[in-house]
Amino acid sequence: MNFALTEEQAMVRDMARDFAEAELMPLARKHDDDGCIDESVFAKVGELGLWGLTIPEEYGGFGMTNVALCLVLEEINRACASVGVTLSVHNSLAASTLLKNGTDEQKSSWLPRMATGEVLGAYSLSEAASGSDAAALKAVAVRDGDGWRLNGTKLWVTTGKQAGLFLVYARTDSTVSKAKGITCFLIPKGAEGFVVGKSEKKTGLRGSSTTELVLNNVFVPDSMVLGPVNRGFHIAMDALDGGRIGIASQAIGIGRACLEASVKYSKEREQFGRAIGQFQAIQWKLADMSARLDSARLMTHNAAWMRDQGQACGRQASQAKLLASTACNFAADECLQIHGGAGYTDDFEVERYFRDARITEIYEGVTDIQRMVIARSLLA
Ligand code: CAA
Repeated sequence: MNFALTEEQAMVRDMARDFAEAELMPLARKHDDDGCIDESVFAKVGELGLWGLTIPEEYGGFGMTNVALCLVLEEINRACASVGVTLSVHNSLAASTLLKNGTDEQKSSWLPRMATGEVLGAYSLSEAASGSDAAALKAVAVRDGDGWRLNGTKLWVTTGKQAGLFLVYARTDSTVSKAKGITCFLIPKGAEGFVVGKSEKKTGLRGSSTTELVLNNVFVPDSMVLGPVNRGFHIAMDALDGGRIGIASQAIGIGRACLEASVKYSKEREQFGRAIGQFQAIQWKLADMSARLDSARLMTHNAAWMRDQGQACGRQASQAKLLASTACNFAADECLQIHGGAGYTDDFEVERYFRDARITEIYEGVTDIQRMVIARSLLA
């Protein structure tokens, strides 16, 4: 067994780290305050090739692995989780899903533009009444000539404001059991009747956009159906196996930022005549944060490696997300505690980490859904 990174993996991780430290860390607070990502960041991520990290070279991307994506996402999220989730959803839920299920024509018309970031990708499964029970979705697609007419309202769409291509799931057959009658549609921004609705005001990840989508009789031609009709739920679930590895990496990145801030403050802050890091109560917090984050990272890289080998990794992806998101929230909570009252103000980045961390236990499947996936796999 060899845990060493390849030269290529180390190179892309270092590139992402340099970019994150030089360009994202100084902007993260602004993204949070402004409720949007600075326009310049989208272009810079494109210049570095990160929008196309997992898109094959023949479509203009780097053609790198999911393990490489984990390394990059950890670095980016350590600096700014709003940019991190945008990058994760674009690569793991949108571009990878199109690559795996698209026709040659779909891939050649969209992937080159997704690789540069000219077109950002979004994934739209959830609705008001179908969050954890994703297969209960109500958006409907009815056959119309050589395509489909879509109606309904989708929710919680990451990158809704900026995305140029949306993977939208709608019901195409209501006579079969709910998961067997769903289809995935590719809808470009600006399609007639396709409205990007209200933006959510969130507790954290305030720089990233999260919107509603309204489908008013939107026509989608057959050429824009992704994968077989009525196989959309399987596509959605497989995409989430990859997406959950991305969110696990995000959680590790935020958690690492918390650990690093805690170590720094523990050395600087003095009480009772010595640095607080000299007290065992603080040392044990740091030790537990480190152990939990490092074990989550190993789980996450293992799940990513399995996905790169084409192996089924649903259980491993859910285990990685479960461990990483809980380790992240533990780290954020302890980090704030170590900082005391100062951590509860915006004098430090800690309060933002604390708010950003919380979503990792919620989106792309809440923690108990991860447990459900793991337990079902064990009992199958
Ligand atoms: N890969 C491929 N197929 C899969 C699969 C996977 N990982 N998991 C399940 N399937 C298939 C099953 O084999 C089954 O196929 P058949 O009908 O052919 O037998 C079908 O899907 C239905 O599976 P289940 O019976 O397990 O489905 P279920 O209705 O019980 O749901 C669930 C399972 C795990 C609870 C699922 O609904 C789920 O993951 N819920 C959470 C949804 C979620 O994570 N949403 C996040 C949306 S994205 C987001 O957060 C916003 C963002 O942009 C970041």
